[in-house]
Amino acid sequence: MGAMANRIPIGRPASGAVAPGAAEQGPAVAAEPATSRTVFIETYGCQMNVSDSELILGILGPAGYHLAASAREADIVLLNTCAIREHAEERVRGRLAELAGWKRRRPELILGVLGCMAKHVGKELSADAMAVDVLASPDAYRSLPRLIAAAAAENALGGTQRDLHLDRGEHYEGVDPVRAGGANAWITIERGCDKFCTFCVVPYVRGRERGVPPGEVIRQVEEHARRGGREVTLLGQTVNAYRYGDIGFGDLLARVARVDGIRRVRFTSPHPAEFDAHTLAAMAAHPAIMKHVHLPVQSGSDRVLAAMRREYTRTSFLDLVAHMRALMPGITFTTDVIVGFPGETDDDFAATISLLREVRFESAFMFKYSEREGTLAARELPETVSEEEKGRRLTRVIDLVEAIAAEQNRAWAGRTVEVLVEGESRRDAAQLVGRTEHGKAVVFAAIGARTGDLVPVRILSSTSHTLHGEIAGSEQGSEETWSSQARPLS
Ligand code: SAH
Ligand code: SF4
Ligand code: F3S
Repeated sequence: MGAMANRIPIGRPASGAVAPGAAEQGPAVAAEPATSRTVFIETYGCQMNVSDSELILGILGPAGYHLAASAREADIVLLNTCAIREHAEERVRGRLAELAGWKRRRPELILGVLGCMAKHVGKELSADAMAVDVLASPDAYRSLPRLIAAAAAENALGGTQRDLHLDRGEHYEGVDPVRAGGANAWITIERGCDKFCTFCVVPYVRGRERGVPPGEVIRQVEEHARRGGREVTLLGQTVNAYRYGDIGFGDLLARVARVDGIRRVRFTSPHPAEFDAHTLAAMAAHPAIMKHVHLPVQSGSDRVLAAMRREYTRTSFLDLVAHMRALMPGITFTTDVIVGFPGETDDDFAATISLLREVRFESAFMFKYSEREGTLAARELPETVSEEEKGRRLTRVIDLVEAIAAEQNRAWAGRTVEVLVEGESRRDAAQLVGRTEHGKAVVFAAIGARTGDLVPVRILSSTSHTLHGEIAGSEQGSEETWSSQARPLS
């Protein structure tokens, strides 16, 4: 059992922790806790899971649960999991084995596996040896209070409580996410995915694509701004395919960019085949929409792109990049690359290398192909590239991307850029870290600036991942931006 001192009400800090529908009634869990149990969530995978964990806390708080300060002290440990590659699932299996050991010594501990891996391999996880008490798919989080209560009642019997259904109507409308606080908020605007790229498990584990109602999105953006947040990142697996009734992605972007107090709007991940003229026009028109796009390419070979069913060609991808550069000079791109997809020949791989040289991405997430059970590729495309060859190809793309990134970053030296401060640098508390408009991480001495400030920073040096600089003086002409943004985050 978690000690009282470490029992933290789920909700927001003093400025007003509120339960949905109880805005005027004070803190979410102060009234009458339905339970005194404490919960700890560990989040794996992409930003959608970070955003989902915030929703889960927004469901458990009003149901009377409290936050534990650590997994060790929690009555309930929930793993919000990822199934995208084998390695992601292996990490969770390793952690579960460890937690199963805790549970042998502390049988009342409740273990839950939530999210993509719960949906993907739920059956395997409910086997006795894994000691999983609760399984919930990404659309089943409203069931968590019920599942956890049932697990607590039946713990001695050792059954698994599960809700693994997918629900094309679930947007979590009305749930108030409990955010960690900070300059940026991750706001899910679209759930699921309908693309069915042949390598990808997401459409199977997250179900059909659906847009969150625009009113709900704007409500969350306004709430973040009201608490002093300056940036939002809109999330969806094909975020630029967003649609709700007559409202498309371009309309929503423009509406978000106009919310008072929001200075920076980002989105991830757009699909290269889903940009329309309206979205590009909105991006070009609104200074608050950041001129950095994460644009996953996966491969530079038309043969491989077709086998992946990516819905674009090398040429159409390059045309899109050129068009965006012409429309928004200085725009930057980052990407995702898969090496060793079934059938990828030396020539196909060479095409990926040449595309990376041509576009000159600022950085990339690079992966060896990992076969996922249930996908079309797993069913129909036998692997042809050995593990060793995948490793060699991965090393080559990493070396190339790093070399290009280092070159691009060197070009920033001597320039002054506006940085949104995200917090202390992990390596050195005397340094702050933040991001530029173009998504570059900048580290600089923490003199007079705080999280949430927009400050002018003169870049002095760089590595392939980070720019280093110092706060620029008022002679840079940025004094006005700097002081007017220095509002505290609640
Ligand atoms: N919706 C995004 C991708 C989300 S998954 C898009 O379509 O661009 C994030 C990245 O993981 C993908 O871009 C891809 O590069 C990688 N990925 C997905 N499935 C994979 C697999 N089976 N093996 C290796 N990498 C994979
Ligand atoms: Fe997966 Fe493709 Fe959907 Fe991205 S667009 S989540 S890669 S199926
Ligand atoms: Fe992983 Fe699910 Fe995200 S599979 S990458 S956590 S959508």
